[in-house]
Amino acid sequence: DKGNHRHFMQKEIYEQPVVVAQTLRAYLRRMENEVAMPDMDFDLGAVKRITIVACGTSFYAGMVAKYWFEKFARVPVDIDVASEFRYRDPVLEKGGLALFISQSGETADTLAALRHARAADQIIAVVVNVPTSSMAREADLLLPTHAGPEIGVASTKAFTCQLAVLAALAANLARAKGLLTPEEEAEIVWHLSEGPAAMNEALGHDGDIEAMAHLIAPARDVLYLGRGPDYPMALEGALKLKEISYIHAEGYAAGEMKHGPIALIDEAVPVIVIAPSGPLFEKTVSNMQEVQARGGKVVLISDAEGIALAGEGCMATIEMPKVHPLIAPLVYAVPVQLLAYHVAVAKGTDVDQPRNLAKSVTVE
Ligand code: M6R
Repeated sequence: DKGNHRHFMQKEIYEQPVVVAQTLRAYLRRMENEVAMPDMDFDLGAVKRITIVACGTSFYAGMVAKYWFEKFARVPVDIDVASEFRYRDPVLEKGGLALFISQSGETADTLAALRHARAADQIIAVVVNVPTSSMAREADLLLPTHAGPEIGVASTKAFTCQLAVLAALAANLARAKGLLTPEEEAEIVWHLSEGPAAMNEALGHDGDIEAMAHLIAPARDVLYLGRGPDYPMALEGALKLKEISYIHAEGYAAGEMKHGPIALIDEAVPVIVIAPSGPLFEKTVSNMQEVQARGGKVVLISDAEGIALAGEGCMATIEMPKVHPLIAPLVYAVPVQLLAYHVAVAKGTDVDQPRNLAKSVTVE
């Protein structure tokens, strides 16, 4: 049931503050200011290397998580799309943690990669939304997302719930490694708990995003730029736009622009820049200015501070609440999803059932 929404995708975008809060409840003990994980029959603190494997949007959640695992827990992370992982003969030391991320828990490539990792004596952790799925059944450590059924082919709420689980896992791992003081842990719990309200605030800008969709709808190509954890968000933005509006879009690490893609820039190629104010802001903005100097039309997604500093000269800006960097990916997912959604609606595509795509890819 779509309720009073026009599409399942829209409904699922709007459900995010509620389902992310629901998911966080399973992984945070608010009263104790602690992160919490289901019981494990292995020592998380002894994990020396993590291998993350997933496809599509779930893969981008994994890319964000790599930043967190390395930053907070100082554990090296390998990450690969499932269809590559299996065929590159990865070096997997016994006892490593292999982490599979999937909404459906049935994606054929990811499931085959899981079995490959099992055969290589990895500890198998899965982040899945369907608790009865094949991946859930084959896991040593099952980390469910509590997004509820996701109907739209374009993944939205499953993605932000994956991010919530992965942030909590990163904090748990850091604690298990002795790298988190109780004060730091309390701070992480506090920041994560702020996520749903900030996502709600982001949804409040839906009208602005809808109003600017006509600037993107006529484009043949669109670029998305971001740095650090916003780089996977750029990839996710481009994937969302491609799959439901059929506009060719690519996400790039902002600093890579000058190594090739900047040659594409002209006034017909809108560039979406994802840049919350913070430590990486200035660098991303300087890449954005390189684009503008070549006549590129920029849509800047940032907070009031970022927009005040760099919004001038942009074709449009989308204002997000000012949030802690840890929850920025959860919050910035919202405008990226809404933009793709409104562009697709403006183009009149079948938003919930885009051509050539299936909700669950059960062929290899
Ligand atoms: O069910 P999964 O999370 O394993 O699915 C992975 C991808 O097929 C999926 O994320 C796909 O990329 C979505 N259509 C993206 O919106």
